[in-house]
Amino acid sequence: MAALILFGGGGDLAMRMLLPSLYFLDHDGLLPDGLKIIGAARSSETAEEYIAKVHEAVKARAEADGGWDEASWARMKSRLDYLAVDATDPESLKPLKAKCGDGEVTSFLAVSPSLYGRIVTAMKAAGLAEKNCRIVLEKPVGRDLESFLEIDDAVGHAFDERQVFRIDHYLGKETVQNLIALRFGNTIFEPLWNNLTVDHVQITIGETVGVGDRWPYYDEYGALRDMLQNHMLQLLCLVAMEPPSDLDPDSVRNEKVKVLRSLRPITLEEAERVTVRGQYVAGTSEGKPAKSYHEERGQPSDTETFVAIRADIDNWRWAGVPFFMRTGKRLPEKRTEIVIQFKPVPHSIFGHGERGEINANRLVIELQPEEDISLSVMNKKPGLDQRMQLQPIQMSLSWGVPGGVNGKDAAPPRRRIAYERLLLDAMAGDSTLFVRRDEAEQAWKWVDEVSDAWSGANFKPLDYVAGTWGPEAADLLLSRTGRRWNTRDE
Ligand code: BG6
Repeated sequence: MAALILFGGGGDLAMRMLLPSLYFLDHDGLLPDGLKIIGAARSSETAEEYIAKVHEAVKARAEADGGWDEASWARMKSRLDYLAVDATDPESLKPLKAKCGDGEVTSFLAVSPSLYGRIVTAMKAAGLAEKNCRIVLEKPVGRDLESFLEIDDAVGHAFDERQVFRIDHYLGKETVQNLIALRFGNTIFEPLWNNLTVDHVQITIGETVGVGDRWPYYDEYGALRDMLQNHMLQLLCLVAMEPPSDLDPDSVRNEKVKVLRSLRPITLEEAERVTVRGQYVAGTSEGKPAKSYHEERGQPSDTETFVAIRADIDNWRWAGVPFFMRTGKRLPEKRTEIVIQFKPVPHSIFGHGERGEINANRLVIELQPEEDISLSVMNKKPGLDQRMQLQPIQMSLSWGVPGGVNGKDAAPPRRRIAYERLLLDAMAGDSTLFVRRDEAEQAWKWVDEVSDAWSGANFKPLDYVAGTWGPEAADLLLSRTGRRWNTRDE
């Protein structure tokens, strides 16, 4: 019989994401038979009290997603248990170990990363790091290369690398996996996926939310460490990597790490030209007044809530193709997308002006709010005009939108929580969608260079008004090279 332990089982991540994910997996009959789910936290509540809280959290989420049913809950409830523990104390973990039985044990650390080192050491002493055990680590692991290595060394003393699953929840998103399918399940894109045809790549993760009361965590990390070091660089790797020979965890991750190694370091001299730091000041977000970060934090801070960076990948495939990345809080839209902007046609046979400009082809991989992949292509405007008129049209390649591959009337399947896929994979021991130690190491190395350049150049965040797309400098980053960020109305 297998067991899943949720350390921090009563916390925000467990209640908002992990337990609802487990409910949906159970609902769909995807959890291993007999799997026990054990919440473990400091709070001295009983299993009944814990289960009542889980019920409330899971029901609210499942009802909102239209997937609540009592029979599935009854099944999940029978798996649930709770134990109050001090996870840094081996003695306190022994009863937990006893509850798990002799099957495979997956432990998810949904606690403050500052405790990871002490917890894994205690787990080893309590017999929770044996060969049948796995550990899942939620980000952020460290706040720079040095602290990452310190924590990861402690993890490495307790567990073999094959037992360690470093989560980046972006890798569990359906469209991110679809990007792999698109690139390597088709012949038509791969020959174009290089510096001969691609002009540049854009990656945007826009959020409308502010930092709010998360500031004690956020103020230490900022957008660079909270989003770019992990989610954005993972997306960049999947776009830029060479074709792996198969989907084995190491084949994919070997290719990703090569991309990270090829990222051109950002020097102090260059920081101002290729990076933008921003922090929001009061403005309007989704029609409501929004406070400045300074006000939320209660005092001034030099932490960035927005970052934009031009990254260059020094290898044959991508030489001369800039990758522009931007992410921030209090932006106008919750939007995550990857844009592959192709080069313009070498010569237009259609003339200019009234016949319409020829827009270069653009592939937009949208992860949020919709999951969609669309390709813009030029098309003849229908009609008998003597002079041919062109117009861009969007071809949707996805199931989630009307007119997509499932046809216009097909209801899209429920959008899964990214953790559903990742929890299943971790329990099955498949680490393809998890971050290997050397990937995290390389990503921290590059991010440390950026942050060192910022401190070396005394580069403070620029103000931007809440509800806008960051400081003007973020637009200049592209316009200086004759490009601009993708907008929805094109
Ligand atoms: C988390 C960050 O990793 O990702 C948050 O810590 C951010 O600051 C969140 O809001 C965004 O995730 P998603 O899936 O909503 O885009």
